[in-house]
Amino acid sequence: MTAGPEQIAEALDRLARGGVVAFPTETVYGLGADAFNEAAVRRVFELKGRPAHNPLIVHVADEAGARRVSSEWPEAARRLAAAFWPGPLTIVVPRAPDLPDIVTAGGPTVAVRAPAHHITLALLQAYGRPLVGPSANPSGRISPTTADHVRASFPSEAVYVLDGGPCRGGIESTVVAPEADRAVILRPGLVAPDQIARVLGLPVVPATRSADHGPGPLPSPGMLEAHYAPQAPAVLFGPEHWPGLLARAGGPVVVISPDLRSLPEGHSLVLMPTGPREYASRLYSGLREADELAPALIAVERPWPRRGPTPEPGDDPVWWAIADRLARATRPA
Ligand code: TXA
Ligand code: MG
Repeated sequence: MTAGPEQIAEALDRLARGGVVAFPTETVYGLGADAFNEAAVRRVFELKGRPAHNPLIVHVADEAGARRVSSEWPEAARRLAAAFWPGPLTIVVPRAPDLPDIVTAGGPTVAVRAPAHHITLALLQAYGRPLVGPSANPSGRISPTTADHVRASFPSEAVYVLDGGPCRGGIESTVVAPEADRAVILRPGLVAPDQIARVLGLPVVPATRSADHGPGPLPSPGMLEAHYAPQAPAVLFGPEHWPGLLARAGGPVVVISPDLRSLPEGHSLVLMPTGPREYASRLYSGLREADELAPALIAVERPWPRRGPTPEPGDDPVWWAIADRLARATRPA
C-alpha cells in the first residue's frame, strides 16, 4: 500500500527520534536519517555495512535546503538545480562546517539532491531538515526499486519503510561536480552529460583515475567499489560469446536480455524492455528475479543497439549509465 499522511507522520516521528526511514525516490529507494544527527547517520552506515570512507548523498526539498548543507552554492550549482531539481541529479559542492564529518566521510565537499517523488518531497518539507539517503541496499548489493526489496534487506524494527510504489527511473542519480571551467561526471545516470553541458555552457567530462588527477583522494570513493552485484556469478555477454555460453556454465543459466531467445530446458529468460529508459527502470528488479532462481550463472546480454562491448557515439546516453551499472554487476563473459 502506498504511504499516506499517517505513514508520513510515523516516519517524521522516527526521524526526529534518530530513527532510520527508507523513502522512495524517482531513482531507487534511499535509507534516510537526519543528516545533522551523527548517531542516526552512523546507524545508516552500520545497517548498510558501508565503508566509512564512502560519503552519503544528502536529500533536500529544494535549493534552500542545499544551501543549509553547503558553505558555498556556486552559480553552476544554482543553474543545475534550477534546470534539473527535483530530479535525478546530485551536485557536489563545498560542505557546511557544521555538517557532521561522518556524512561526507571527512571530505571537504557534500553531494546533494532534491528527489522527484511526491512522498519524499512531502517528508522533506515537513521535516524541515536534510536527510542522508544512500541507496537502501546492503553495501555492494543490488539497489532497491520497490518497498519489498528494502523490506527483504533490513529488519522492520530497524528500518521504517515508506512505500511509494516502484521507482520509475530505476538507476541512481547522475553525480556531477561543477568546477570553474568544466563539470566532472562522477557517476553517470539519467541526466546526460550533454544536458548538463547545455545548462552550464561548459565542457562536461567523465571522472577518470588518470594521471591528471594526481595522488590525492579519489573524486568519488563509491565509484571504485564492486556494486549492484547479484549473489550468483554474473557475466555480460555479446553475440560473440553466445555459442556455447549455456553449456560452459555447467548448470542452469538465467539469461537477461531484450531479445526473445528460446532456451533449452533448464535455463530461463528474464525478458527486458528494448528502450533505454524502460530498460533502466527494470534493470535491478530483473537482476533480483534472476538471482532468486539461484542459477549457476546469470548471463546479461549487452542491451544497447549494436550489442558491442560498449554503447556507441550516437546511442541514447542512458545506455552509457546502464553500461556503467552492468560493468559493476558483472564480469566480462
Ligand atoms: O539516486 C540516488 O542518488 C540514490 C537515491 C536514494 O537518491 N542514492 C544513492 O546514494 O545512490 P549512494 O550513497 O548509494 O551513492 C552515492 C554516491 C556514491 O558513489 C558516493 O561515493 C558518491 O555518491 N558521493 C557521495 N558524496 C560525495 C562527495 N562529497 N563527493 C563525491 N562523491 C560523493
Ligand atoms: Mg548505492
